[in-house]
Amino acid sequence: MADVGVQPKHFLSDKVERFTESVIREMTRQAMLYGAVNLAQGFPDFPAPAQIKRAAQEAIAADVNQYAITWGAKNLRNAIARQMKQWQGIEVDPETQITVTCGSTEAMISTLLAVCNKGDEIIILEPFYENYGPDAILSGAKPVFVKLRSPAGADGEWTFDEHELRAAFHNHTKAIILNTPNNPTGKVFTRAELELIRDLCVEFNVLAITDEIYEHIIYDDTQHISIASLEGMAERAVTINGLSKTYSVTGWRVGWAVAPPNVTNAIRKVHDFLTVGAPAPLQEAGAAALSLPPSYYESLATSYCARRDRLIPALTEAGFHCFRPRGAYYVMTDISAFGFPDDVAFTKYLVKEVGVAAVPGSSFYNHPRDGAQQVRFAFCKRADTLDEAGKRLRRLIQLRRQ
Ligand SMILES: Cc1ncc(COP(=O)(O)O)c(C=O)c1O
Repeated sequence: MADVGVQPKHFLSDKVERFTESVIREMTRQAMLYGAVNLAQGFPDFPAPAQIKRAAQEAIAADVNQYAITWGAKNLRNAIARQMKQWQGIEVDPETQITVTCGSTEAMISTLLAVCNKGDEIIILEPFYENYGPDAILSGAKPVFVKLRSPAGADGEWTFDEHELRAAFHNHTKAIILNTPNNPTGKVFTRAELELIRDLCVEFNVLAITDEIYEHIIYDDTQHISIASLEGMAERAVTINGLSKTYSVTGWRVGWAVAPPNVTNAIRKVHDFLTVGAPAPLQEAGAAALSLPPSYYESLATSYCARRDRLIPALTEAGFHCFRPRGAYYVMTDISAFGFPDDVAFTKYLVKEVGVAAVPGSSFYNHPRDGAQQVRFAFCKRADTLDEAGKRLRRLIQLRRQ
């Protein structure tokens, strides 16, 4: 056979060349390789609530084992609508406004594929959850980044500059992606900030796509506000959420997008051809999960607050400057005290020599240099896991003294 010399690259799309594999998921593989404590990827190492595991087992036993309705089992959609009314005062029609997806990850990409044309701009506040960059590329949109600036002190808030944000909005802007409570910073957007974003969305006729997967993980009397609950936003907000974080079931892959009916129609079409539907028995278990009493959410937030307050002193003692999160289950830190050239070199050292996996800050920024002295730790772990990490991190104290 003739050697036609096909280059492997020939088969690949230009889009896929423009992003790398997830750094977060790669750090989990490194943690396994080196036997490190995994404070990199945001999944709990403790059991999911017994009631909802039972509900999943019962659904399988009752033979809920075939495709659910493409846009989601009725029970789950009804439960989502009920919860949005109860928690945020938002009225949604489960028949025309909710699409259940394979995790909020699929909700985000399906939404972007449903609304973006080539060349549309989408505004992303950075540091950002790393999926949003590839999501923008895959949907043909152009991401425009606006900085959340780190606070001067440990207790301050990450904030954006109002003028910088306004300057990012113009005719080609299709959407802004928000994430509150925020990964990686732990920022919880205030009503005033959301109102300012709302005003820009209305003025420039822009959609707000808001990832609220950490809705119930909030601290220090902070309040989570959905931008969709603000006046004027019902017809221009897509609210994304899921079971993963609230119910400690990241492997179930059940999420959803709540949107105005015309946008929902488009999301449902994309979703249907991407995945057909989310796992049917786990959707039924999801309906049971969303029916847990308010005390469940109170103890979820309290237990995460205790985890946060266990990890931060250990990190501080080891020499990290911690930015105290108000929500979600991550601590963003500054690593300048250790004198490493960058975050990637530092996290490599940390996973191999210290035995703790964390995520290099650069993976949350468009320009790696912006996160070169930052590292993110996840604290969705058992107390003994956090203590073991703390013990290992103490080795860094010597490093700082050398
Ligand atoms: C901000 C944010 N959105 C979405 C996800 C993924 O959610 P899901 O498991 O529902 O796809 C994560 C997971 O870490 C996240 O941090």
